[in-house]
Amino acid sequence: MFLWGTATASYQIEGAVDEDGRGPSIWDTFSHEPGRTRDGHTGDVACDHYHRWPEDVALMAEAGLNAYRFSIAWPRILPFGRGPANPAGLDFYDRLVDALCEKGITPVPTLFHWDLPQALEDEGGWLNREISGYFADYVAVVAERLSDRVRTWITLNEPFVHMVYGYGLGMHAPGRMLFLDALPVAHHQLLGHGLAVQALRAGGAERVMISNNCTPVWPASDSPEDLAAADAYDTLHNRLFNDPILTGAYPDLSAYGRPELDFVRTGDLEIIAQPLDGLGINYYNPTRITRPGEPAPGSGGLPFEFAAITDYPTTAFGWPVVPDGLRELLESLKATYGPALPPIYITENGCSYDGIDDQERIAYLDGHIAAVRAAEGVDVRGYFVWSLLDNFEWAEGYHQRFGLVHVDFETQKRTPKASYYWLKDLISSQSTEAQSAEKAQSTET
Ligand code: FCB
Repeated sequence: MFLWGTATASYQIEGAVDEDGRGPSIWDTFSHEPGRTRDGHTGDVACDHYHRWPEDVALMAEAGLNAYRFSIAWPRILPFGRGPANPAGLDFYDRLVDALCEKGITPVPTLFHWDLPQALEDEGGWLNREISGYFADYVAVVAERLSDRVRTWITLNEPFVHMVYGYGLGMHAPGRMLFLDALPVAHHQLLGHGLAVQALRAGGAERVMISNNCTPVWPASDSPEDLAAADAYDTLHNRLFNDPILTGAYPDLSAYGRPELDFVRTGDLEIIAQPLDGLGINYYNPTRITRPGEPAPGSGGLPFEFAAITDYPTTAFGWPVVPDGLRELLESLKATYGPALPPIYITENGCSYDGIDDQERIAYLDGHIAAVRAAEGVDVRGYFVWSLLDNFEWAEGYHQRFGLVHVDFETQKRTPKASYYWLKDLISSQSTEAQSAEKAQSTET
C-alpha cells in the first residue's frame, strides 16, 4: 500500500509545554531568548494539538490519508532526557496511536525532531557522545509501549539541518555557532540513529528508517572551481548523512580540512550502517553553489558559497519551486547508491503560502507528485505533505504557513484549504484506480 500522509513535529504543533510532567526542551529555552525567533514567537501554545488531537485525526481521516508522520517529544517521555519515564507522556502518544489505528491511518512516529530535553543540552547536547546512548534508551522505552501497534518508525529528522542550524550557525536551538566544529554532532546523531535501530528491532519493529533532508546541488557554472565547490557542498549536505548509513563509510571531508574525523571510534560505522527498510527523503528545493569568495571573519572559511536561484518562482518563504529537482534527486540517489538504496519514502515535501484558496500549493504538490512518478527506476512507497496544519515554523515563528489546513492562532479554528480538498480528491481517485486495477487482474486470472 502506497502511504499518503502528512507530516508534523511535536514542538511545532503540540503546545502544552508545561503539562503532564513534560520537561523543558532546547526549543523552549531558545524561543524564549530575545531575538531568536521572528517576533519572539514560541511553541508554548502552537496549534494546541496536545488538546485538539481528536479534531486533527478526524481531519486526516476525512481527507482519506492512510498514514501520519508525527514526532514524539523526548521531554514528554523522559522529562530530563534519561531516568524514569513519565507515564502521562507515554499515555498521550498511546491514545493518539489508538485513534489513528481506529481510523485506518498508519502511525509513523519520528523519535527525534529537534526538541532535545534541555537537561541533555546542559550535558553538551549532541556534541556529547553519551547522548547517542541516551537516545537509544529513550527509544527503547517508547518502543516497548507502542510497538504492538506501531510498525513503522523514523529515528531522526534531518540530522543535517539540526547540525548546521542548531550547532553550526546558531539559527535554531540550541543556538550554538561552532561552524565546522559542529561536525561531531553529525556523528553522534548518526550513532544515535544506529543504536536506535537496534533498540527498535529488539522491540519488534518491522520498518525502520531515517528522514534526511536532501537537495540536488547545482554548480553555478561548469568551471572547475564551481564544480569543486558544488561537490564539497553535496558532501556536507547529502553524503555526510547518506553515505555512512548506506555504505558504512564517511565521504572524504578534506575539502573542509577535516579528513581525520577523530570523533569516529572503531565499530561506530557498523552500528550506523544497520540495514534499513526505507530511506525518508525530505525535499524542498535544489541549491545552487559557487566557488568561495573571501571568507567572512570567524566563518571558518567554507569551500563553497550559495548562489541564488532566481530563474524559478518562489514560495512565501522565498524558496524556489523546482518540482523536477525531486525527480533529479531521486534518480541521483539511485545512481549513487544502486542496490544499497532502500525503498524511498518522501517524508516531507511542501511549501509556505498564505491564504485558504491556496492554488499555488496545489500546483506545488501536483508538480512534485508528478516528479516522483517520473523518477525512473526508483522505488518510492510513500509521500507525506509537510504539513497537516499551519504551525510554528522554527525561527520564522507563525509567519510561514505550510498547512493543508489553516489555523487561526487566536482562536485555534482549523479551516481546510483548497489544497486539502484537492489532495482528498487525488487520494480517492488513486484508490479507485488501484481497486479497478486489482479487479481487472482478478478477472484476467
Ligand atoms: C524541514 C523541517 C520541518 C519544517 C519544514 C518546513 O526542514 O523538518 O520541521 O520546518 O522544514
